[in-house]
Amino acid sequence: MHPAHVAAGSGIGVMACVLGLVFPNLRLACRESNMRILVTGGAGFIGSHLVDKLMENEKNEVIVADNYFTGSKDNLRKWIGHPRFELIRHDVTEPLLIEVDQIYHLACPASPIFYKYNPVKTIKTNVIGTLNMLGLAKRVGARILLTSTSEVYGDPLVHPQPESYWGNVNPIGVRSCYDEGKRVAETLMFDYHRQHGIEIRIARIFNTYGPRMNIDDGRVVSNFIAQALRGEPLTVQKPGTQTRSFCYVSDMVDGLIRLMEGENTGPINIGNPGEFTMLELAETVKEGYTACEVDGPPINS
Ligand SMILES: NC(=O)c1ccc[n+]([C@@H]2O[C@H](COP(=O)([O-])OP(=O)(O)OC[C@H]3O[C@@H](n4cnc5c(N)ncnc54)[C@H](O)[C@@H]3O)[C@@H](O)[C@H]2O)c1
Repeated sequence: MHPAHVAAGSGIGVMACVLGLVFPNLRLACRESNMRILVTGGAGFIGSHLVDKLMENEKNEVIVADNYFTGSKDNLRKWIGHPRFELIRHDVTEPLLIEVDQIYHLACPASPIFYKYNPVKTIKTNVIGTLNMLGLAKRVGARILLTSTSEVYGDPLVHPQPESYWGNVNPIGVRSCYDEGKRVAETLMFDYHRQHGIEIRIARIFNTYGPRMNIDDGRVVSNFIAQALRGEPLTVQKPGTQTRSFCYVSDMVDGLIRLMEGENTGPINIGNPGEFTMLELAETVKEGYTACEVDGPPINS
């Protein structure tokens, strides 16, 4: 909690409340122990749902910093102009000076199509962006949560992956800007924690789906739905029996907030423990739409 906000519940806060009866504009100062929360990447898919949930609590002020690479102002339209909400066009590879109590650090493209589009920028976002947010957390004494990924396990040799598993990751592949970038980001989080006493939380997110996913992000859920919407057959990569788990975005957001508010630094895997085959997923999408066809190149091609 930032000291300026603790003051709202102190003698100064009580005085402000009394004054607020006379001067209505001061009433804002009456709220007890407000929490000012920064969400980087808050204009994106998961970030915008997180903002919706955080804004439900009237004691929260939410600030979003986003460069709109994959996110959109549209995702936050209902909050623009709200007195407890602020939206900043900002690239996290640049420092940000701001007074906050908590930082949810999500900024990073999550889909391979987008993170491979400019891999140097992706690794800068993961490394320099996380350094900047940790520098901010250190300066203002904020707690910081990083959204890492199941991709830190790489091409895992252990199933399912416990957090203690160190992974099997290619450092020089086309996905390394994301996988290795997130691994370095996790390293930075723990080094700042050990060296500077920063309060950290790390979530390793598994596949998440829900409203506001980018329809063209190339991931299987959005691919199937986009194909169904266009009336095309659904392309299931062979053999179709390969499995994934999919977590609904509101469950993911609950998990992130509980991690932030709890005592455990993580890393914590967050996802749905239930696995689905790609054929089952296609069937589920098909129930709502029409054609489904097992076709397409083999998996990993
Ligand atoms: N969606 C998933 O299934 C999934 C899985 C694992 C991890 N994650 C992680 O969760 C986080 C959010 O993922 P998402 O699915 O919402 O992705 P998304 O692409 O929808 O959102 C990312 C947001 O970050 C912003 N951004 C990107 N680079 C930035 C930069 N340099 N400066 C400021 N803003 C920047 C984008 O504009 C976008 O609004 C990411 O950190 C991602 O790695 C997501």
